[in-house]
Amino acid sequence: MDQQTWTAVDQYLTSTLLPPDPALTATLESSRRAGLPSIAVSPTQGKLLHLLAKMTRAKSILEIGTLGGYSTIWLARALPADGRLVTLEYEPKHAELAKANIEAAGLADRVEVKVGAALDSLPGLEGPFDLSFIDADKANNPAYFKWALEYSRPGSVIVVDNVVRGGAVVQADSTDPSIQGVRELHDLIAAEPRVDATALQTVGDKGYDGLTIALVTS
Ligand code: SAH
Ligand code: DHB
Ligand code: MG
Repeated sequence: MDQQTWTAVDQYLTSTLLPPDPALTATLESSRRAGLPSIAVSPTQGKLLHLLAKMTRAKSILEIGTLGGYSTIWLARALPADGRLVTLEYEPKHAELAKANIEAAGLADRVEVKVGAALDSLPGLEGPFDLSFIDADKANNPAYFKWALEYSRPGSVIVVDNVVRGGAVVQADSTDPSIQGVRELHDLIAAEPRVDATALQTVGDKGYDGLTIALVTS
């Protein structure tokens, strides 16, 4: 199996299971035009985030790493009318584009985009959050997970993106801070009695990567 097959299958699954979606398509298109990196979650992954938010009946969502707002829109659409989502983004250019995309998707009433380094914004948030999606600079994954846990209640779910990185996660002696960030995240979760977690390897049009999913139990 190769990337071409994974992409073809992702296209098949997306065209079969996911109806055409003008707001999401426009978000990716405006992100591309503005020169943002093409690293948003895939449509099938976005739908997974959306379904997780619905399955947990999330009314409050925290996202770390907004980019152009693609995953934000998937998540925010799962909220009830009185729900809220806070998303943290370091790059003002990304945050401004995300705000416009979120507004165009009709979700501005539920979503707050906070500009700045996530570690600066995190201490001042109003929790708890029913679902947290961690998808920013991978070196800070352990710190982000600690904050997400701090803002959780029993039953909250924490999802972390990009935890396999083409398989590089197994390189214990890697000097890449992103790899060490993912490995330290997993060590932290393994030692944390308040969470129950698993991780899944994924292939698709974003290549070979994975997601860690943790349930906060106490
Ligand atoms: N969740 C998005 C993709 C996020 S890409 C989606 O799937 O649609 C990662 C984002 O994290 C980028 O926009 C990057 O600017 C942002 N980022 C990087 N370091 C950050 C930091 N320290 N604080 C907040 N955001 C950061
Ligand atoms: C990168 C970041 C992401 O959030 C992602 O989904 C893929 C790649 C990156 O920084 O390379
Ligand atoms: Mg990601």
